[in-house]
Amino acid sequence: MRIAAQELTPEQTYKLMSGIVVPRPIAWISTLGPGGKVNLAPFSCYTFVSNTPPMIGVNLGRKAGQRKDTARNILDHGHFVVNVGDETLLDAIHASAEEHPPEVSEVELLGLEVIPGERIATPRLAAAPISMECRFHSVTPYGDTGAEFFVGEVLVFHIRDGLARDGKIDTERLRPVCRIGGPNYASLGPIVTKQAIRQTPKSVMPGKP
Ligand SMILES: Cc1cc2nc3c(=O)[nH]c(=O)nc-3n(C[C@H](O)[C@H](O)[C@H](O)COP(=O)(O)O)c2cc1C
Repeated sequence: MRIAAQELTPEQTYKLMSGIVVPRPIAWISTLGPGGKVNLAPFSCYTFVSNTPPMIGVNLGRKAGQRKDTARNILDHGHFVVNVGDETLLDAIHASAEEHPPEVSEVELLGLEVIPGERIATPRLAAAPISMECRFHSVTPYGDTGAEFFVGEVLVFHIRDGLARDGKIDTERLRPVCRIGGPNYASLGPIVTKQAIRQTPKSVMPGKP
């Protein structure tokens, strides 16, 4: 089969690409909405874009041409939290994608407890095994549908006790979930360990502090 990209509608392209770029991790983002309400939604077009300083990036699309609450809140306040959910939280992750008016808090609707931020005003989810407090860095628009790639700098990593050893996450213990096409998710399969390949140590560029 061969598909010419320009023959596809935005909806068809989305369906195809979200089945091709798999599995995707899920950034479960909390932001501050109007009146200090805590907004929560999942986003799987997500990766990290720098390690020093640590920076993550997430692609936020639009609803009928308008920015989603998460995008608006990040631009209004300049900070957000990327929470990482585990298998036990999958129903809540999925339900938090439901569209609600900006003044409705998905955290309240789902009965999720939050913890005040340490470096930013946005709270994190108490139930999440990992949360990253982020300061907004930049936003870059892509394509014709108004999608925007938001980048944030991680200021603090909150990691549940027992999940990290020697600076590494115990992935099996984390029990992460990922999104595949449509309303479909997957959990971790067997972990296959290969011989480590020597990598040049990471370093900062000349001229950087
Ligand atoms: C698992 C999952 C992943 C999602 N990933 C994205 C994404 O990467 N980008 C996006 O714009 N919407 C994504 N969505 C849809 C948003 O979660 C949805 O539009 C939500 O209502 C946005 O909420 P907000 O208006 O409170 O920001 C995803 C939905 C689910 C269930």
